[in-house]
Amino acid sequence: MSNSAQASPEAKKLNRRVTGLAIAAAVGGFLFGFDSSVINGAVSSITDEFGLTEFASGFAVASALIGCAIGAYVAGRLADKMGRIKVMLIGAALFLISSIGAAAAFAVWDLVLWRVIGGLGIGIASVIAPAYISEVSPKAIRGRLASFQQLAITLGIFAALLSDQLFAVTAGGASEPSVFGLAAWRWMFLVGIVPSVVYGILAWRLPESPRYLAGEGREGEARAVLESIVPTETVDTSLKEITDSIKTEAELDKKSSIRGNRFGLQPIVWVGIILAVLQQFVGINVIFYYSTTLWQAVGFQEEDSFLISTITAIVNVAVTFIAIGLVDKVGRRPLLLTGSVGMFVSLAVTALAFSQATTSASGDPSLPGAWGPVALVAANLFVVSFGATWGPLMWVLLGEMFPNSIRATALGVGSMANWIANFIVTVSFPSLAALSLTLSYGIFAFFALVSFFFVFAKIPETKGRSLEEMGVSATDGSVSAKNARA
Ligand code: GLC
Repeated sequence: MSNSAQASPEAKKLNRRVTGLAIAAAVGGFLFGFDSSVINGAVSSITDEFGLTEFASGFAVASALIGCAIGAYVAGRLADKMGRIKVMLIGAALFLISSIGAAAAFAVWDLVLWRVIGGLGIGIASVIAPAYISEVSPKAIRGRLASFQQLAITLGIFAALLSDQLFAVTAGGASEPSVFGLAAWRWMFLVGIVPSVVYGILAWRLPESPRYLAGEGREGEARAVLESIVPTETVDTSLKEITDSIKTEAELDKKSSIRGNRFGLQPIVWVGIILAVLQQFVGINVIFYYSTTLWQAVGFQEEDSFLISTITAIVNVAVTFIAIGLVDKVGRRPLLLTGSVGMFVSLAVTALAFSQATTSASGDPSLPGAWGPVALVAANLFVVSFGATWGPLMWVLLGEMFPNSIRATALGVGSMANWIANFIVTVSFPSLAALSLTLSYGIFAFFALVSFFFVFAKIPETKGRSLEEMGVSATDGSVSAKNARA
C-alpha cells in the first residue's frame, strides 16, 4: 500500500492523519518513560529527608512497578469494556494526581502510595498506546507508527534525566529548597503535571478505535472513523473484514477469552508473556535505574555518572529510529534475531570486563587498563542492540499479534508480565550485584541467548498482515496457523 499510497494526495493526507493519531497516543509513552525514571534523581534526597533504610529506598523506587503491573492488567480489560479513549483519559488523570501527590509527600508511605497511583497510569499507558496505534494504522506502516511509543518512552527517560539534573543544579543539590522554597526533589515530581495535561487534552480529541466500535456493534461510528483513516474505496472492505473477523471469533466462542487449555491460556498469549518477560530479563532497566551504582561499583567517579547516563539516554533515543526505519521493510523477526545476537555479545563482553575489576589497597574498586572503556562501550552497544530492536518491537508485537477479540486483554496480560519481570530484576539487582557483577551480566547474557531461540521458534512474522489476519483459526480454535512461526 505504501507505494501507491505515497503517490496519491488522498493517501498522503490519510497517512499524515494516522501519523498524527499515533503521535498523540504515543504521548502516553512519554509519561511512561518520564514517570518511571523521574525517581532516580530524587531518590537520594528522599532517602535523606525521610531517613530511609536501603530496603525502604529500594522499595520506594520499585513500588511504582507494582502499580504498573496492576494498571496494565486492568487497562486491557477496561479498554474492551469502555473503549480505548476513556482508558487513556483515566491514565492521564492518574499521572496528574500522582505528580501532585508525590511532590507533596510528607512521609515515605505517602510517597509510595502516590508512586503506586502513578504506576497505575504508567501501566495503563503501556497497554493503551500499542493497542490504539495498531488499531488505527494501515498495515504497511503499522510497525513504524507503533514504534513511536518507544521513541516517546526513550524521550521521556531522557527528559526526566535532564529535568532532575536541572532542578538539582538550580537548587545546589536535590534536597535543597529551590524555586519558591520547595525542595528540588518535589519539583522533579511536580513537572509531571505538564505532560499529563498534554496527554489528557490530546486523548480527549482522538477518535475511538474502529475495531473497538465494531466489536461493540457500533458499526456506523466505526465507519465514520474508518472514513477518516483509510482510502474511501477501502472503507467498505475494511469494515467488512473487521466485522467478519469479530463474528468468526465469536462463533468460535473465543470472544474476549484469553483462556485456553495450554496451562490455562491460549498458546499465543503465552508467546506474548514470554516475549515480554525476556525483554526485561536481559537487564535493560539496570542501565537506566542503577546507572550511578553500576559505574561507581567499578571505579567511575560520581561526576562521570551524569555524563554516562546522558550519553546512554541519547543513544537510547537515537537508535529507536533504526527500528522506525526498518520494521516495516525487513520485518519483526529479522530485527529481533539480530537484536538478540547483539545483546548476547555485548552483555557477554560487559560480564567479561566486570570480571577484571580489582580493588585498590584503599578498598576502591577499579577496572584496570582498557577494561573501563571496554565495559562502557559494551554496555552502550547493548543499549543500541536493545533500543533498535527488542525495546520497540516487543511493544509493537504485543499491539498486533493477538486476534481482535482478545487483543486488549491479552496485551494487558503481556504488559503486566513485562512489569512484573521489570520488578523482579529491579529488586534483585542490588543483592545480585553485591554478590557478583560478572554473574549478574552473565545471567542477562544467558537470557539474551534464550531470546534468540525463542524468537526463532515462536514469534510470528506480522509485517504487512492486517490485524484481521491474526484471527482465530476456524479449524482448531487456537490462533491461526499463519500465526505460528512462518
Ligand atoms: C522498553 C522497555 C522499558 C525500558 C525502555 C528503555 O520500552 O519496555 O522497560 O525502560 O525500553 O528504553
